Amino acid sequence: MLVFAVETSCDETSVCLINNKNDILSHITYSQKEHELFGGVIPELASRSHLQILQKISRKAIHEANISLSDIDLFTATVGPGLIGGLLVGSIFTKALAIGSNKPFVPINHLEGHLLSPTYNNSMQYPYLAFLLTGGHTQIYIVNGINNYELIGQTLDDAIGEAFDKVAKLLELSYPGGPKIELLAKKGDENKFMIPHPLKKSKSLNFSFSGIKTAINLITKENDINKNNFKSDIAASFQKIVNEILERKFKLCINYLNNKKIIVKQLALVGGVASNNNIYLKMKEVAKSNACSIVLPPKNMLSDNAAMIGWACIQKYNIEKFSDIHFKANPRLKLIGKEL
Ligand code: KG4
Ligand code: ZN
Repeated sequence: MLVFAVETSCDETSVCLINNKNDILSHITYSQKEHELFGGVIPELASRSHLQILQKISRKAIHEANISLSDIDLFTATVGPGLIGGLLVGSIFTKALAIGSNKPFVPINHLEGHLLSPTYNNSMQYPYLAFLLTGGHTQIYIVNGINNYELIGQTLDDAIGEAFDKVAKLLELSYPGGPKIELLAKKGDENKFMIPHPLKKSKSLNFSFSGIKTAINLITKENDINKNNFKSDIAASFQKIVNEILERKFKLCINYLNNKKIIVKQLALVGGVASNNNIYLKMKEVAKSNACSIVLPPKNMLSDNAAMIGWACIQKYNIEKFSDIHFKANPRLKLIGKEL
């Protein structure tokens, strides 16, 4: 079974050809550069860019994989959540190919793509705990199996990646800010600035990040951001708090699971922020001290990409041969019935 997958929910235009033997025949991701100056993604620019790029990289992927369009058995695309313009471009393009080829179209939820990504390169034991850490979402799931997810915590305001991007913007760094903050933090003093830890005393599994941005905004106003080691020190202090928050939530998760007598042996970090090596190493220690191992998807499935969409499609299609050409792209698509 050969699958053609498309991901266009935010600012990455990505296509992938993947088969049910787990071979990725081609995978091309174009990261849009036009948002760099704005400190965040401009939806209108993103949709226009998807429109211009998608057809080109699709042809290239088919060429690289050395196949023809008629060899493809299944077409799949992200149908939500995300920016509606991009979702429409990607899903309509892929549906048109499916109709033209007389093959099924499988709609995939972007979050499910992230959640199942570590099953590609790890031998996962269900249930596993997943911290979904992206620019649009911060959620904690118990993954009981394919199609069986339990949402146990999520952000009440900003997403974790958004917090990285907003702090970067305050430091006059270009979008996306996450990798730049990680780099700066390496040479900074993490104890230089006191950054608040929102919900520190709370037993809730939900997150809050907006207060951190406000606190850092105030600090930047009181200092010259270009003097001394200011940017590195802020980056390190911010990253330290982020690690503390993740550690606290993980420990609360362990209590929650213990109370429910659910045994979990693996913690998966998924989504763009899981590329952060400092977070990975800190969480690895914390997980280890709770008899849990930590798992990551392959590098090319961390930030938004079509391979994780194709992979999720194959996993789900193996269980149930579903297709829905009429599925409408939905910017607020939920993974499970009711969010917290
Ligand atoms: O999963 P993703 O590519 O897109 C969404 O689904 O949102 O995540 C993008 C987010 C951005 O906010 C970006 O700044 C963040 O992931 N990010 C990082 C790092 N690399 C990407 N955040 C912290 N450290 C990184 N190394
Ligand atoms: Zn994503």
